[in-house]
Amino acid sequence: MTAISLRLNGEQLTVDVPPVERLSTILRDRLSRTGTKVGCDAGDCGACTVLIDGEPACSCLTAAAQIDGSDIVTVEGLADNGSLHRLQESFLHFGAAQCGICTPGMLISAEALLRKTPNPDRKQVEDALGGVLCRCTGYH
Ligand code: FES
Ligand code: FES
Repeated sequence: MTAISLRLNGEQLTVDVPPVERLSTILRDRLSRTGTKVGCDAGDCGACTVLIDGEPACSCLTAAAQIDGSDIVTVEGLADNGSLHRLQESFLHFGAAQCGICTPGMLISAEALLRKTPNPDRKQVEDALGGVLCRCTGYH
């Protein structure tokens, strides 16, 4: 076991974990942050996407040792004191979620895009969300 320090949704934490344990496992099984979903566990579906130091990354492909000292944002970090984030409000308004498994990955990928590109065009949106697969065909 190794002590890993991270900042998770603004909260400083230390967890004792095997250095190769997946970030998705740490979030869901050790820290009970189950908002991050696991679809494939193999880097293919993007459902497990979180922000690591501001960049979207598959938490299922990220080992504990890689995140020591990192700033992590999960879908739980988007809402502000119980008020939904504007993206969450938009997804809700437009019915952008069906089963919801891909939705955290879609939200986090959209947030990553908007932080860098506040007014993206359609192509930029499609590129940003292209790594998150929706099995309910909710792409559009
Ligand atoms: Fe990580 Fe599918 S669960 S990419
Ligand atoms: Fe079901 Fe996207 S809403 S996988």
